[in-house]
Amino acid sequence: MRRKVIAGNWKMNMLPNEAISMITELTPLVKEADCEVVLCVPFTDLFYSLLTAQGTNIKIGAQNMHFESKGAYTGEVSGPMLKSIGVEYVIIGHSERRQYFNETDETVNKKVKTAFANNLRPIVCVGESLEQREAGIAFEVITEQTEKALEGLDENQVQNTIIAYEPIWAIGTGKTATKEDANEACKKIREKIAKIYGQNTAERVIIQYGGSMKSENAKELLEMSDIDGGLIGGASLKADSFAKIVNFNTIHS
Ligand code: 13P
Repeated sequence: MRRKVIAGNWKMNMLPNEAISMITELTPLVKEADCEVVLCVPFTDLFYSLLTAQGTNIKIGAQNMHFESKGAYTGEVSGPMLKSIGVEYVIIGHSERRQYFNETDETVNKKVKTAFANNLRPIVCVGESLEQREAGIAFEVITEQTEKALEGLDENQVQNTIIAYEPIWAIGTGKTATKEDANEACKKIREKIAKIYGQNTAERVIIQYGGSMKSENAKELLEMSDIDGGLIGGASLKADSFAKIVNFNTIHS
């Protein structure tokens, strides 16, 4: 049985004082959650967020990192830097980074390996564009992104990787994939992992859905067989809306 992982991705939002207030407000709302609760915050919020979340069930993640451990890479942050302050998760290869910052399948793969080398749990994003979906190649795109991201990992590392299926056309648009479509995509990803790493490994991998997930649609998505959690953008900025998603199993439809 896979334990669900509900992760917020604040993107480039929230100043430290807002991060502290949000986490303080969120803490009592999610303390009984039976899923894993993660907030992936901007670098400048990490330290404040870690301190505020200390002693709670809220885990803190980063949204990116460099694949090298140190060196002349002005403006970058390394895996050891994240680990040293207590960060546990890191988002890798979000479509916004692939689109605006030239992330490729190759850099994604290097970063995933760096994450494991530093004991950070990667949340690897895959997802097709609207054109790719309309051209009927969505599953090909996402399974190939998955295969390349995981290349060279051992079974144990694959089992500890979180894949976030985020169709690009659903991000920040208010358009959510139907629960059937989202589940089918997650299933295809799992089948691909099973083909390469075996069924046992594939059954353990957490595969999240992301893209306009909110309290109104979280329950129906999260109840699907192959959707093991969510990566939430807009709805993770407010404690009450994020808490409702975390506590999806108490929402009565
Ligand atoms: P929204 O929930 O705002 O659509 O963003 C999804 C996302 O990109 C999370 O990584």
